Amino acid sequence: MKLKPILMFFAAAVLASCSDELESRVEKTLRRMTLEEKIGQMMQITVGVITSPDGTELTPMADTVLSVYKVGSILNVPGGEAATPEAYRSLMRKIQEKSLAATGIPCLYGLDQIHGASYTVGATFFPQEIGLGATFNDEYAYAMGDIMAYETRACNVPWVFSPVMDLGRNPLWPRMWESFGEDVLVNKRMATAEVLGQQGDNPDAVDEYHVGSSLKHYMAYGVPVSGQDRTPSSVTDREMMEKYFQPFKSCVEAGALSIMVNSSINDGIPFHANGKFLTDWVKEGLGWDGFFVTDWADVRNLFERDHIAASNKEAVCIAVNAGIDMIMEPYDVTVCDEIRELVNEGKIKKSRINDAVRRILRAKYRLGLFDDPYGEKGDYGRFACDGFRTAAYNAALESEVLLKNDGGLLPLKKSDRILLVGPNANSMRTLNGGWSYTWQGDLTDDARFTAQYNTIYEALCTKFDNVTWLPVLEYAGGREWQKEEKAEIGRAMIAAAVSDVVVICVGENTYCETPGNITDLNLSEQQKKLVKFMKATGKPVVLVLNEGRPRLVGDIEPLADAIVDILLPGNYGGDALAALLCGEENFSGRLPFTYPKFSGRFSTYDYKLCENRATMAGEYDYNAVMDVQWPFGHGLSYTRFEYSDMRVDRTSFSRGDVINVSVDVKNCGNVAGKESVLLFSSDVYASVTPEVRRLRDYAKVEIEPGRTATVTFALRAEDLAFVGHDLKWHLEEGEFLLSAGNCSVTINCTETEVF
Ligand code: BGC
Repeated sequence: MKLKPILMFFAAAVLASCSDELESRVEKTLRRMTLEEKIGQMMQITVGVITSPDGTELTPMADTVLSVYKVGSILNVPGGEAATPEAYRSLMRKIQEKSLAATGIPCLYGLDQIHGASYTVGATFFPQEIGLGATFNDEYAYAMGDIMAYETRACNVPWVFSPVMDLGRNPLWPRMWESFGEDVLVNKRMATAEVLGQQGDNPDAVDEYHVGSSLKHYMAYGVPVSGQDRTPSSVTDREMMEKYFQPFKSCVEAGALSIMVNSSINDGIPFHANGKFLTDWVKEGLGWDGFFVTDWADVRNLFERDHIAASNKEAVCIAVNAGIDMIMEPYDVTVCDEIRELVNEGKIKKSRINDAVRRILRAKYRLGLFDDPYGEKGDYGRFACDGFRTAAYNAALESEVLLKNDGGLLPLKKSDRILLVGPNANSMRTLNGGWSYTWQGDLTDDARFTAQYNTIYEALCTKFDNVTWLPVLEYAGGREWQKEEKAEIGRAMIAAAVSDVVVICVGENTYCETPGNITDLNLSEQQKKLVKFMKATGKPVVLVLNEGRPRLVGDIEPLADAIVDILLPGNYGGDALAALLCGEENFSGRLPFTYPKFSGRFSTYDYKLCENRATMAGEYDYNAVMDVQWPFGHGLSYTRFEYSDMRVDRTSFSRGDVINVSVDVKNCGNVAGKESVLLFSSDVYASVTPEVRRLRDYAKVEIEPGRTATVTFALRAEDLAFVGHDLKWHLEEGEFLLSAGNCSVTINCTETEVF
């Protein structure tokens, strides 16, 4: 009986001594460093500055950067495209040798490994985060983090710039697919699971199979008012605290080693200059001892782009004093000179420099870089093994969302004569999206990268006897991702005459960040035209959407008998789709965002009551209509689930209580299926206008036909609170409605509390 406390005491003592030892190593290193060496640790340069164009050799600039300026961190994919683990290892050795010779401090190399080790040839690619959001299954976020970490360490790279936990709440935003969707809880839980997968169990001593995470982009990056990348958001502190901050807070509490800052501006203040958000909320508010890294050139942007500083030097002063620890100034090491001048002029205190460097050194010790700079401890024999492949394939299966299936058109019969058309039908590029082998994902179809994987066409051929693919409308290729070849629809119409069903794969080609900006969310005109003409043949139409954000399909939706949104499912997405379309597997994905219907009407599921209301009585007869294409959480299956008997173990509660909420879910169909059970709450009356509903928990259960599963959620009363204008949490007395499926139950909070 006494064993547990003793073990806990022992574990706490080990952790304490481990962190004492860590701190004393950090202090010892810091004490022997010159000011120049310290400043060098605060700098990060892009690898292209110090390498040959193919990224294999160091150039003389490496001496300037690593030996003269003693820069402590390098980022980016060498040579501009994915490299093999061996190529990375060889380059990492050269960089480490130089760094160690210059300062005795190893370099911290960071890579954008986004949906797996996505800058590594041969690595295991999962669906992009938007697809993981659609699984509503945190296990895949953990698995992706874990496998990404392993395959990144195989390259002797210890640090990744992921996960993204910005809430994708403006569907125009070109990085929507990099998020887990629009909801706070989904982003929070999945990002935290991914961080735990990446960093392993002990963030103080990350082992040779795990990496450091860089949470990004702190914060509210996914709600640019204009919808364009890196443009201002307009979020109050109250909402910031209640929604956008929460995933970061949770990941910091899980031990995340670093955070990358949002490139943009909120309420007139660039995030890189916002001491309140950086220092007060995170470093002090959460007692965080990790470090902040800027996004690309974002200190310079304070001067050149945002005009809050009249020189780059002033920009550096503002950012470092706001709490920035490491500056991703990709090309120009002379920023180091500016920092030195600022210190000598007393504009940046030495204590701030020491604090920043301490944080960076701490991460380097935590990642084991001082003990194993060449990455010789690990054995990476499981790189891209079958187990990893299966995890990525299963994630893809659960990420593809069946939006419509009129008349039970799906599953298709093995013998059906399938005509396959559309620009996304035979492309590995579009299955993966950006951050795949290259930044823009434009070389993915190169045989060096994806010869071993199946496009949708190739995958359908493995499951169906009679598949004809006609390239009648293709993307032009290259980086002009929106450009399409001229459509030859007549050919497809003739072929449709001898087919049983037409599968049309449409959506988007790949893009990343600002090049992905669009001004119209509609699917391209030519793609819509293809769907219209195919429908005119009279054959049943299956529409496959392969996209990073919800391109509008309102006018062609009625023409499709079945619609599947596969989002960006990764290298196994074609295989997953084929298995789902033939009925070998069942759909279980659900939309992690609200799919809009109109270009002038965007919303999220947690809107305010005034956005959807019946006509008011009287002269003005106001009303408001919430009309979306598909709501958040929508997703069909080959079976049908019925919800019943929703119940709670207490109907009244106050802060500190846990309410156990149960609901029975029955599989009423003939095939097994997985169901994402989503628990929502509605605060019926509140002093800050309540949202119609908020997701409070979710669980994924597999249920055999005819069987019933009871799903129980332990809902903390505190989770029903909101942030007030005093930036405190308020749990107010009164009624709350809990709902799951078509069931609901009312509970009552007996006491208002502010905490
Ligand atoms: C992106 C970041 C990325 C960084 C480094 C920036 O342009 O916004 O997400 O991590 O580049 O490549």
